[in-house]
Amino acid sequence: MTDTHLPALSPDNAAIAPGNAAVITGGASGIGLATAHKLLARGMRVAIADRPGSALDAAARDLANAAPNGDADVLAFALDVAIPGDLIRLRDAVAQRFGAVSFLMNNAGIGPNPGKPWQNPDGWRALIDVNFWGVVHGVQAFADAMLAAQAPGLIVNTGSKQGITTPPGNLAYNVSKSALKTYTEGLAHALRNEPGANVSAHLLIPGFTFTGLTEGATEKPAGAWTGEQVADFMLQSLGRGDFYILCPDNETPRALDEKRMAWAIGDIIENRPALSRWHPDYRAAFASYLAK
Ligand code: NAI
Repeated sequence: MTDTHLPALSPDNAAIAPGNAAVITGGASGIGLATAHKLLARGMRVAIADRPGSALDAAARDLANAAPNGDADVLAFALDVAIPGDLIRLRDAVAQRFGAVSFLMNNAGIGPNPGKPWQNPDGWRALIDVNFWGVVHGVQAFADAMLAAQAPGLIVNTGSKQGITTPPGNLAYNVSKSALKTYTEGLAHALRNEPGANVSAHLLIPGFTFTGLTEGATEKPAGAWTGEQVADFMLQSLGRGDFYILCPDNETPRALDEKRMAWAIGDIIENRPALSRWHPDYRAAFASYLAK
């Protein structure tokens, strides 16, 4: 299957090349599955890793049907990213099947709300085990081998705007994604200071995207992007070498995200209360700031 609108990739991202191997956690659905399709269309071989079950099996069949070399291009691996040993098993299975990995996307994520900051410690831990530790486990399993290959490599971690502007609603999710942002920034710094390293890290920040995670909707809401749009935007951004891959959607242009982020950091600079954007005393000030 060929894509006639392939965005140009810079030589910096020679990691995305025919015959190279990619690993995508959470690859059985949504943004991960859309990315798997895009990489297969570029001639890569792709391992999707997800929880065991019919979604993983169906995604593997779907990908193999679309892949230039069918089953030979696709590996489906059942795992729980919260378990570090599962990522080691994945690494070994991919190495045996495809050899060196040039593209690692730590993307698996969940969104159930465990509740208030002082409630449900098990629910909090379960969410952070997947959304934060699942990513760290992926990096810790794969990075050494990617560096040792001395070939161009990309590590993309899927964060969220909720990890940046931290809107009230699901605090545990916000915490997991803001920890992930900090971790990925530090990972990028560490990689660029690693002598001889040819591997870079990137933070994917999707907007509102219609996927398995967008609960409740059976049809794509008008404001949402599709997983395919996010995957295309990510590949274009990687081609430019962007670290922050800040996706718009159909209701939130980049300029609005920029204002929201600037207001959030302004809470510290202006000595406003935390999350002042949602504080009744600051409602008018925020509205007039947006209108400027
Ligand atoms: P999705 O639900 O379609 O895909 C997530 C995949 O992760 C699923 O296939 C799921 O089975 C898998 N997964 C969950 N827990 C796992 C575990 N413990 N081990 C292995 N696999 C596991 O959702 P979507 O939207 O494609 O999510 C991908 C990433 O994008 C997530 O990290 C999510 O937080 C992030 N994101 C999504 C947004 C949206 O509007 N859909 C917005 C911002 C971020």
